[in-house]
Amino acid sequence: MGKGYPYGKSGPKSMRWPGRNGQTALMTSRRNPSKRSPAAPKVEFEDTTPYDAYVRASTLATLQRTATDEPGEYMFLVCSQIMELYFNLIAFEWRTAQRFLREDDLSEALVALRRANDHFTALNASWISFRWMTPPDFNAFREALGEASGFQSFLYRHLEFLLGFKDPALLRPHKNVAGDHYAELLAAFEAPSLYDDVLRYLARQGYAIPAEVLDRELSASYAAHAGVEDAWVELYGATGRTDPLRQLAEALTDAAQQFSDWRYWHLMAVRRAMGAKGGTGGSAGLAWLERSLQRQAFPELWSARTRI
Ligand code: HEM
Repeated sequence: MGKGYPYGKSGPKSMRWPGRNGQTALMTSRRNPSKRSPAAPKVEFEDTTPYDAYVRASTLATLQRTATDEPGEYMFLVCSQIMELYFNLIAFEWRTAQRFLREDDLSEALVALRRANDHFTALNASWISFRWMTPPDFNAFREALGEASGFQSFLYRHLEFLLGFKDPALLRPHKNVAGDHYAELLAAFEAPSLYDDVLRYLARQGYAIPAEVLDRELSASYAAHAGVEDAWVELYGATGRTDPLRQLAEALTDAAQQFSDWRYWHLMAVRRAMGAKGGTGGSAGLAWLERSLQRQAFPELWSARTRI
């Protein structure tokens, strides 16, 4: 019984009934309407529930078509789908941040960037579900995956393009795929990355971002520039912890770190489930993934730290 129960240990009998473990619970008092049970939710609906009409949970539940009867494959598929949803959500937040930066609304851009960072924390926590997977567990359904590999994830690639990692070879797997995915991916490939929009914003705030960075070829991978490093050094020197520009720098640093964290967790899941075998996508596996782990988003935000 909770400490706040107002009737002492025994209480009026009419107000109590035995619970599952012999405890008692409070019932509605007719004399005191304030003690009435809270209204119960509506339970009668036609065709579908308004919840399902909105969330489409019944459609979602049809999308887990495993290739084998291995129980572990179900988790592999569901967690892959969860991660894809998060990739899409984070890309949405970053595009929102870009839109606000273009409107010089730093406060709203920061809200979107912080939301994205929270989603990243949740996304990276999904890797915990993979810890159980030993090589025999993965081998039990690996063959059935055929050539399917996360390397072919267009939503992940979209995230990379937003971070400024661009390589035309990464568009190729999607070129002949039906639907709008290729067009969307190509548009993101040719558009400014989140970092491009940040640097343009800093230039409008009076920071000396070099013209060749502002006018750079947008479909090329972002390459570090000493002038941008100078700008970050200046910004950290000129701003306090609570300054919105400092917070912008830190929100971006968080995003870059969380993205690296995702890659690291992925690498460890791969190492744990299949060691150094080649990947289903045809790569060398671990060695190939280790190389991409070296690439750092927003490079000058990291190199500037040595000089600050
Ligand atoms: C234990 C589970 C996993 C294993 C063993 C694994 C294995 C691999 C391997 C070997 C590669 C290199 C490309 C290849 O040859 O296939 C790769 C790439 C990739 N995987 Fe996984 N993977 C796992 C889980 C996941 C999950 C859950 C996702 C989330 C959707 C994912 C997304 C990716 C992505 C996006 C790439 C490309 C990375 C890049 O381009 O840098 N993987 N994976």
